[in-house]
Amino acid sequence: MKQQTGKIQAEENIVLIGFMGCGKTTMGTKLSYRLRRTMEDTDKLIEKRQGKSVSDIFAQNGEGYFRDLETMLLEELTKSFHGKILSVGGGTPVRQKNRELLKKIGMVVYLRIQPETVYNRLKGDTTRPLLQTEDPMKRIIDLMGQRSALYEEAADLIIDVDEKESEQILRIICEAYQKRNKILL
Ligand code: S3P
Repeated sequence: MKQQTGKIQAEENIVLIGFMGCGKTTMGTKLSYRLRRTMEDTDKLIEKRQGKSVSDIFAQNGEGYFRDLETMLLEELTKSFHGKILSVGGGTPVRQKNRELLKKIGMVVYLRIQPETVYNRLKGDTTRPLLQTEDPMKRIIDLMGQRSALYEEAADLIIDVDEKESEQILRIICEAYQKRNKILL
């Protein structure tokens, strides 16, 4: 571990962002085993605290309420989250405030995915309120159109995941983290 400006850089968190179905939770879990670090997921933390699912929060309190919970949680994590892996909801980086908070939390990795892959992975899924429409493919394309540039803006590292094995994605993330923090993992 290398000490820089009074801060132990190896304690930097890794933050995974990207569209629904891009593999944030899967890769986060694999990374947490590989690096022996705790992994948290903002959706799961919110569900635990609210005592209900994201779908129920959307249905009962509205999307705006959920978005405010996301921002409040990120604010909190900037102060209390160190040396861990964080995966966030697909819509989290849309707010500018959240993009700033994500950068503060750690190295932001954008798992970039094609709309067709999302569609194939998530068809039949009932846990994503935003995709419960007559034409989920159209919704995926529309949302991606609105979000792609924002994901890119938030990212320190972008990985195209469609054609990659998870092992390859892990290696890319670990190498970038190692380089950025000037440490050996
Ligand atoms: C959302 C993505 C979901 C969840 C919520 C909204 C989005 O998380 O936060 O349903 O706006 O893209 P995942 O990306 O983990 O599915």
